Amino acid sequence: MSRPVAPVAVPHQADRGPGRPLSRALAALPGRQLDPGELRELVDRLAGETALWHPLVAFSDQERHFASLHRDEFVDVWLLCWTRRNDTGWHDHDLSAGAVAVVQGALIESNPRIGGHHLETVVSAGTSFHFGNDHLHRLTGATDDAISVHAYSPPLWRLGQYDLSADGILRRTSISYADELRPVGTSAPISVSHR
Ligand SMILES: [Fe+2]
Repeated sequence: MSRPVAPVAVPHQADRGPGRPLSRALAALPGRQLDPGELRELVDRLAGETALWHPLVAFSDQERHFASLHRDEFVDVWLLCWTRRNDTGWHDHDLSAGAVAVVQGALIESNPRIGGHHLETVVSAGTSFHFGNDHLHRLTGATDDAISVHAYSPPLWRLGQYDLSADGILRRTSISYADELRPVGTSAPISVSHR
């Protein structure tokens, strides 16, 4: 992910407001790095803390809307909102493990298969997944109202954005977490099921 320490002016990133409700899940963070399973538990809990993220929900076909829910030296948490036109392109999370909980609508997670058909998994509301720092994927909105909560540990700082050409050549570009992930170069658009 999703994005991630120097808070900078990020398009479509909402700031934490002074009136943000206190999160029991965030208050219970242990003050150390979290493993993938712990990150999944965190996003599952935050998915149920609707008052924390619901005021930040917004959708845009032009730029994926995202908002920082939390960031400390061990973990960062983001709200992302998706339409079917929002596509991260292929990317990794450099040193970070992560977890994603879908709270509304659905996402498609794709994993690349060089020279073959990419793996595509629909992740629907009420479900979540987690991954280590060896994970490479692409996320696309499968509905025009998808909402997801993402957590990363250590916090995202750099990400790898990939150009996967039609003939299977893979190129990686290091980008900042503050840059929006999007398809680059000759990466073929992903097919998205329409509902
Ligand atoms: Fe990601």
